Order: sequence, then C-alpha cells, then structure tokens
Amino acid sequence: MIQIKDLSKHVGEEVTIHGWVYSLRSSGKITFFQIRDGSGFVQAIVEEKNSGAEVFQKAQTVTQESSVEITGNVVEHPKRKGEFEIHATGIRVIQLASEFPIGNKEHGPDFLLDNRHLWLRSQSQWAILRIRNAIYQLTEKWLQDHGFIRFDSPILTPSACEGTTTLFGVDYFDLGQAYLSQSGQLYLEAGIESVGRCYDFGPVFRAEKSKTRRHLTEFWMMDAEAAFVEHKENIEIQEQLISFIVQNILEHYSYELKLLERNIEPLKKVQAPFYRITHREAIKKLHELGSTIGEDDDLGAEDETILTQQYDKPIFVEKYPAIIKAFYMKRDPEDPTRALCADLLAPEGYGEIIGGSQREDDHDTLLARIKEHELPVEAFQWYLDLRKFGSIPHSGFGVGLERLVTWICGLHHLRETIPFPRMINRKTP
Ligand code: 4AD
Ligand code: MG
Repeated sequence: MIQIKDLSKHVGEEVTIHGWVYSLRSSGKITFFQIRDGSGFVQAIVEEKNSGAEVFQKAQTVTQESSVEITGNVVEHPKRKGEFEIHATGIRVIQLASEFPIGNKEHGPDFLLDNRHLWLRSQSQWAILRIRNAIYQLTEKWLQDHGFIRFDSPILTPSACEGTTTLFGVDYFDLGQAYLSQSGQLYLEAGIESVGRCYDFGPVFRAEKSKTRRHLTEFWMMDAEAAFVEHKENIEIQEQLISFIVQNILEHYSYELKLLERNIEPLKKVQAPFYRITHREAIKKLHELGSTIGEDDDLGAEDETILTQQYDKPIFVEKYPAIIKAFYMKRDPEDPTRALCADLLAPEGYGEIIGGSQREDDHDTLLARIKEHELPVEAFQWYLDLRKFGSIPHSGFGVGLERLVTWICGLHHLRETIPFPRMINRKTP
C-alpha cells in the first residue's frame, strides 16, 4: 500500500491511497480534498475534465471524515516545490461519514475534550502525537547509548514516593490498601545495585487537587537512576539528554513544528550547558521581579512563569530548602538546610519539566527522615535495606513527558499532549 509520506517517489505514476477526507471544498467543476492517511496529508483534486462526469458526481456526495480510497496521478505542486498532489481519476467511498461535529469554526476546550476521540484527527493533534512519539524514541536512544537499562517499576505499590497527600488508593484483595505509583524512583534505586544505571517510562498517578494547565492526574514519567553519580553529574546527564531530544526534534520534525506554528528560534538555543542558579538566587531574582514568595517556599506556577521568561535556555534551580522537598533527598554537606537537588525549568515561561536529586545513602539518616516525614517505616524496610548492603552515592531524576511535549510544541495547556487526558474534573472519554 502506498502511503502519503512516500508520494515523492511516485511522481508521474498512478497510485491508490487510503484515508479520510480531512477537509473539502468545491468550486465549479473542481473539488479539492485534503486527504489524511496517518502518514501525512495530501491534496487530491477531482476535476471533471480529468476524472469524467461519473467520478466527479460521486465526489460531490463525499462528506468530511468519510473514509475513502482515491486513485490518481501524482503531480508536483505547480508553485510549491517538494509538495505533491493527486489528480484523481477514481474515488471509492468506504464509509460515508455522518456530519462531523468538529469544523473549521472555533470550538471551546470543553467541547474539544468531550470529543477527544474525534479531535485527535486534527492536523495539530497529529503533529503533537508524532512529536510525543519521537520524544519516547529519542529518550530511550540517548539512555541506551549511555548505559541505562530499561527497568519496569511496579504501578501498584504499598507506599508513597512523592508525599502522602496525592496518593490514589486501591483495594488490594486481603492485603488492604495499595496505591498507584507516583514515580518508580524508589524501585530504580534497587535496580542500580544490579545493573548500575536504569530507567523506567510509564504512567504515574497524582491525586492532584490543583486545577492548573500544568497538572494531570495520570501522566507519563521517565525516571532515571545511576550508581556512583553525584549531584553535579546528575545535572550534566539531564542537560545532555534534553539537548539531544530538542536538537533531534528540530532536525527531523520541522513539518510538525510548522503545523503547530512553533517559533523554533528559542529551541535552537537549547544546547548544553544550561543555566544553574540556586533556590536562594531564584528567590532574590523573583523578589526583584515583584513576587512575594517566601524564602523557604517552593516555586509556584506563577513564579516559574515569570522566572523562566528571563532566560533563553533551560535553568536548573538547585538546592531547595530541604524541609520542602522529599524525604529521600541527600542534604548539602556545605549547608544541611538545603537538599542536593535540582528542578529543571524550561524557558519561555514553561517551568518545571524535570525533578531530580542525589539520594540519601546513609541508613540511619534515611531512617530518621522517614520518621520525620511520618511515613510507615515497615513499608520502607526494603528501601532501607539498600543502605545496608553496599550503599553507594547515587542520583536520579524524573522527566514529565507531557510537560516536555507542551514546551517543545509551544502549547499553552498540558491536556493536548496525551491522547486521553485525566484531570481533576475529567475522566472521559
Ligand atoms: O518532581 P517530581 O514530583 O519528581 C519525582 O517524582 C521524582 N521521584 C523523580 C525522580 O527523581 N525519579 O516529578 C517529576 C516530573 C516533574 O518535573 C514534572 O515534569 C512532572 O513529573 N509532573 C507532572 N506532570 C503532569 N502532571 C502532574 N501532576 C505532574 N507532577 C509532576
Ligand atoms: Mg517536582
């Protein structure tokens, strides 16, 4: 079967393509169809003098999103070099579509989300799905080339990784409560003692009460973990990975970025090294920018927006106050009130895309932290074991896939970056 993406190899030939009528318009004796077949989009022109009266008449009955088989000659576009169109000689309707609810007019986000199963067909959604797919591939490529082994962490877990306030509970037979994983990190920390470096890439769940454009309740995260890597090298790994992804997307997905009207100039600058500032410096800068954030506060969405508008590359904000960060983070030996952590914030107002840190590797310190955070020690016994049998310095980080897609595609809201978004007020379709 010939795919639209390969039409350039068939100029001057008669081909048959299979797809859907993305849009159509008629003027006098010519009908123009935009056909989508999954691999791309092409214009098919049905002109009575080429196709004959019968085919032309049939073309008049076709509706938007009907599934069709179109036969015709492949011709290079008269004005746009490198673009091709089909001069149709035959058309077969596979299914004549009912009136399609999504048209050219502006639809509100709720209407589009209610019709997500149909909205996915639009050109912009097609482009986003393809870039999302590319990010998976590129992430795995970079990690595998740098010695990371895929390690699938469980989704049903006995305890919290990222704080107990955002856990989804599940009844687990006679064993009581289980929770949907917030991050596979703790399990990866067991994996590195076997394979040295590992990663997972799967769905994670946060019962987030927040209703912002940056939060989903189900999203995809890539967690990476590496033995003998300390804070500084952890950051270097992240900036290499993100530069690799962005530069490859620019090289191979320019058509998709253009469909999304993404200004690619800022993306071109995304090359390591990125900026590094401490949390203290970030707070100082935010105060200069008019924020009222407290010295020991986490950066809110608004703070991240105004801060990252100041920079032309991603920024690592390092060494947050330990009291606002997770129990597993190692403290900075130079200032134990600080954690050896960094969040990577994307520029242009996008904000956090990665959270990472060096992990506490001393058994007794970690045990004390678990108690301070009022976590159930019993459930963390296996995790504490890792500090009893050949404990090592180690670090890791988690990339939020939808946050990364949102930034690279230049979108406003996370909800468009996952096929079927789950948010506080939405669980359908
Ligand atoms: O910063 P977070 O909470 O870090 C962790 O879960 C660590 N255990 C990761 C690790 O070290 N292996 O989450 C990591 C990333 C964030 O930077 C953000 O990009 C994304 O996950 N994220 C969300 N994305 C969408 N919706 C939400 N509710 C998100 N919460 C976090
Ligand atoms: Mg975070």
